[in-house]
Amino acid sequence: MAHFGVDYYPEHWPQSRWPIDARMMREAGIGLVRMGEFSWAKMEPAEGKFDFAWLDEAIAVVAKEEIQVVLGTPTATPPAWIIERNPEILPVDHTGMVRGFGGRHHDCQSNEAYRAHIRRFVRAMARHFRGHPHVIGWQTDNELGNSHRTLCFCDSCKQAFRAWLKRRYGSIEAVNEAWGTVFWSQTYSSFAQIPVPLPTPNSHNPSLLLDWKRFCSDLIVDFQKLQIDILRAECPGQFITHNYMGFFEKTNYFHLARDLDFICHNQYPLHFRKDRDPVAPPERLAAILDLMRGIKRKPFWIMEEQAGPTGWETVSSTPRPGQLRLWTYQAVAHGSDAVVYFRWRTCLFGTEQFWHGILPHSGQPGRRYAEVKQTIGELTPLMPRLGDGGQGAEVAMLFSYDQEWAFQVQPHHFDFDYITHLMTYYTALHKAHVPVDLVSDAEDFSAYKVVIAPLMFLMTPDLEAKLRQYVAGGGHLVLTMRTGVKDWTNQVVPHVLPGPLADVVGLTVDEYDCLWGVSQAVRWQAGERAADPEPCAKWCDIVTPAGARPLAVYTMDYYQGTPAITANAYERGVAYYAGTELPPRTMRAFMAHVLATAGVEPLIAPAPEGVEATRRRGKDGDYIFLLNHARTAAELALPASWKPLIGREFVREHVLQLAPYGVALCISA
Ligand code: GLA
Ligand code: ZN
Repeated sequence: MAHFGVDYYPEHWPQSRWPIDARMMREAGIGLVRMGEFSWAKMEPAEGKFDFAWLDEAIAVVAKEEIQVVLGTPTATPPAWIIERNPEILPVDHTGMVRGFGGRHHDCQSNEAYRAHIRRFVRAMARHFRGHPHVIGWQTDNELGNSHRTLCFCDSCKQAFRAWLKRRYGSIEAVNEAWGTVFWSQTYSSFAQIPVPLPTPNSHNPSLLLDWKRFCSDLIVDFQKLQIDILRAECPGQFITHNYMGFFEKTNYFHLARDLDFICHNQYPLHFRKDRDPVAPPERLAAILDLMRGIKRKPFWIMEEQAGPTGWETVSSTPRPGQLRLWTYQAVAHGSDAVVYFRWRTCLFGTEQFWHGILPHSGQPGRRYAEVKQTIGELTPLMPRLGDGGQGAEVAMLFSYDQEWAFQVQPHHFDFDYITHLMTYYTALHKAHVPVDLVSDAEDFSAYKVVIAPLMFLMTPDLEAKLRQYVAGGGHLVLTMRTGVKDWTNQVVPHVLPGPLADVVGLTVDEYDCLWGVSQAVRWQAGERAADPEPCAKWCDIVTPAGARPLAVYTMDYYQGTPAITANAYERGVAYYAGTELPPRTMRAFMAHVLATAGVEPLIAPAPEGVEATRRRGKDGDYIFLLNHARTAAELALPASWKPLIGREFVREHVLQLAPYGVALCISA
């Protein structure tokens, strides 16, 4: 299998250019292209009139250069003639407004007319390309859920929501019970009265909102299933995948993956809008990649890797020399088996005129082409050796869409955010060079030495039992603020917090304090001498130990001196509790303590800021990726047993020099 590719849009270029593109691709070592995912109008210009000849020809042109093809089903872009015939396909937004044709994803995913168009089209496309010797697989749609973030509230979706509730709860009485509709006289006497959450004079019922998010996620999974069923039946032997968007949360990605052979992710480290980081921090990119590996607990692909400045109306900075190579190595280091760059050549028209490809508008290969070519040349011989043994992580972090959604409904503090909270833990582990797996709480996590289970706001008795058992069996578990507050319907449970796990963590939570207009700080005191206080924010649980030992305390106000972080020995393991969102210095001390107690070793000793170390368990040894995300050079001492395969710039014995954005790859057999 080829391991490097590009996203290619032959329909944007004259046919005379195709062979030139294909030859340049092959010369760069590219062996894969993804095509077709937005070209419905060209493949079916009028209902039932299919034209796949141009795509046959494009596949033949790249095949001549030994390039394999992944085809995307173009269902993210229903053509104008479909919308003209069935305007009811257009989605309705959260204000009740119908969104018009244009852009993409101008569709309602529950709409039957739309689904009928998809069945007809995907079946025809699948039948045409089944068994094609150069088509190795399919991508369903494109970034499912994208553009649908505030969609769709149409009548069809309302009916689908009611049907979903009926399947989930059985009767209207059960819905009333689960949602607590006796509050504010919201009791329903039939499913026909249940609304979709359009704006009301004030807030909706939190249980309704959480179920709505679950419904929207299930709808997307079901929408994808429609075409997967067709592709599976028509195209045995070709894989089916989908391109994910990292921490995107409209869809439960664990559920979306069940019907896929493997998953793909789109990685764009540079951003071009004011509300986002201009460059995503390396630990965030790493966490996203670890989640992508955790979705199916196996290697994945990057289906779109940044290849130039990104941009729509505004434009990001340009990737610095070395960054495209660095991000490719980072993706591979965290478990990507293939990297496909978005896009081959920068388009001359359309919304993405400034979303740059490997080639600039002119089509002349330049700096980016040379860097991609070098990267592919270096990594291609190594890819088959990397295997699927994961990172050998001894630490897991639990990831849950239900918890994230529940906090979106009620963030408690204006600035509170599920991912940001998880990242406080992940960042400390990343900077300590400790590999982490991000896994679903439905997984068996018993083999990990440490499990971080942040924000287990919604609890089930099963989950509680599993966590208890993990500690009893010798695990080191970190639980946090807001554990055990609610049940799965988003109702508060009438127990003393954190509920049944109180004896495991050895404390009760008697009060809490939202840090809005008040200040608080924590002091780490489990070391040889107590640290200086460090301000904390957003939230504090005020706890009473019942056996737990304080590792850090609050330093201000009426609960000054009470524990902010605790440790409790329970049967053969240890359960920790962190009552606040920990600031960085305290978090680093906390994680160092947890790791040392659990016997987890970092991959490398402290390294200069910005240097990432990641391990991939290969077929013939451990591959250690050393990645310098900083714009300055870094020096790094290597253990004697590591043999550098790529990046051998030694300044002294065992001391390696990493250039700005430079990488090294070592094997430790
Ligand atoms: C996403 C999409 C691509 C393209 C890029 C750039 O990742 O999947 O089709 O639109 O963004 O905007
Ligand atoms: Zn709809």
